Amino acid sequence: MIHKANDISTDAVTIQGLRFAYPGSGAALGEIDIGLKRGKTLALLGPSGCGKTTLLRLIAGLLAPTQGRIWFAGTPVADAATGAFVPPERRNLGMVFQDYALWPHLTVAGNVAFPLEMRGLGRAERDGRVKAALARVGLSTYAERRVSDMSGGQQQRVAIARATVAEPDLVLFDEPLSNLDRELRETMVGELASLVAQLGLTALYVTHDQSEAFSLAHEVAVMRGGKIEQLAPPENLADQPGSAAVAEFLRLGAVVAVTKGEGGWRLPGTDIRLPEPPIGNPRRVLIPSRDVRPGEGPLNLTGQVRASVFRGDGHLITFHVGPADAGFDLSFVAPNRAAIGAEIALHIDPAVLRWFAE
Ligand SMILES: Nc1ncnc2c1ncn2[C@@H]1O[C@H](COP(=O)(O)OP(=O)(O)OP(=O)(O)O)[C@@H](O)[C@H]1O
Ligand SMILES: [Mg+2]
Repeated sequence: MIHKANDISTDAVTIQGLRFAYPGSGAALGEIDIGLKRGKTLALLGPSGCGKTTLLRLIAGLLAPTQGRIWFAGTPVADAATGAFVPPERRNLGMVFQDYALWPHLTVAGNVAFPLEMRGLGRAERDGRVKAALARVGLSTYAERRVSDMSGGQQQRVAIARATVAEPDLVLFDEPLSNLDRELRETMVGELASLVAQLGLTALYVTHDQSEAFSLAHEVAVMRGGKIEQLAPPENLADQPGSAAVAEFLRLGAVVAVTKGEGGWRLPGTDIRLPEPPIGNPRRVLIPSRDVRPGEGPLNLTGQVRASVFRGDGHLITFHVGPADAGFDLSFVAPNRAAIGAEIALHIDPAVLRWFAE
C-alpha cells in the first residue's frame, strides 16, 4: 500500500522532505512525504491553490524541488541537495490534463502514436499498439478522425489512450474530467478506474472532487495550504478524519466548537451535554451527518429545518440546532422532504463523535 516514505527500494515513487517555492513568492509546498507502491493509485485531493498541480509538476520533472528528494523505483530523479535531475522525457511517464493538450491538426491515431514515435518504435509495432490503446478506450472506429471534430469526452479518451500507449511506469492525471458534464464524468470515472486496474498502472490523480478521489484511488492525500493534512485509504478518511480541517473539507458533518461549563462539555449555544471527551483540551467536535437518526436517543439534537433540497438519492435537509443567533447547522440526507421551519427531533450515538484538539 501507500505509506509514509520509508521503503524506497519497493516504491514506484518516493518523496521525502519535499519543499517548493516559486521564484519570488512564498512556499507553495512543504513539507511533503509520500510513498506510492507499484500498481496503486494515489489521489491528491484539495481546494484550489493548495498545491496539487505544483506537486504533480515536481513529480513530472517540469519543476525542480527547492528542498528534498524524489525517487522513481529506487532511483533518484530529483535531489535538491546534489542537483541531480532527470528531465521529464526520461522519467517514463504518461500525463493527462484537464484541457486534454492534444494536437488538433493530427488525427486520433496520430495523437496516440506520438509517444511511440518519440521512443523510436517501428511502424508495425506502433500501429499495433495504437490499435490496442484505442480499443481500450472504445475509440477503435475513430482512428482517422481529426481530434478537433470530437466531443470533450472523446478527446479525453484520446488523451488517456495517448498517456497509456507506451506502457509508462507512472501516469499523472491533473483534473482530467473537470471539463466534462456531471453524467459523463461519472461514466468516465468508472471507465478510468477499470482501465487503470486492467493495465496495472501506478497513478497519481489530482482532483478537487471528493467522489472522484474516493472512487478511483487506493489512498487519498488531503492537501491544504501546500501540505498533506492526511494520507489514508478513503474509508479511513471518512471514519477517522485526522483533523477538523479534513472533516470540514470532506463535508462529513457539522464541526462545532465545544465549551466546558458547569456540569461538563456542551455544544455551542445549546444546553446539549456531551459525554466526557476521550482527549484532553478538545476545541471542536465532529457530528457526522451519516450517523444522525430520527427520534430520541441518548444524545438529542432537536432543531428547526432551514432547508430541504431534493438531490436524486434523497432530500438534503439542513437544520439548525440551538437559538437562531447561536447554535449550529447540521445537514443530513433523509428519504422525505421536510417543511421549512418545522421542529424535528433527531439523535446521535455519542460514540460516533470525533473530537479535535486544534
Ligand atoms: N507559476 C507560478 N508562479 C508563482 N506562483 C504560482 C505559480 N503557479 C502556481 N502558483 C501558486 O502556487 C500555489 C499552488 O498552486 P497550484 O496550481 O499547485 O494549486 P492547485 O491545487 O493545482 O489549484 P487548482 O485546483 O486551482 O488547480 C498557489 O498559491 C498558486 O497561486
Ligand atoms: Mg491545479
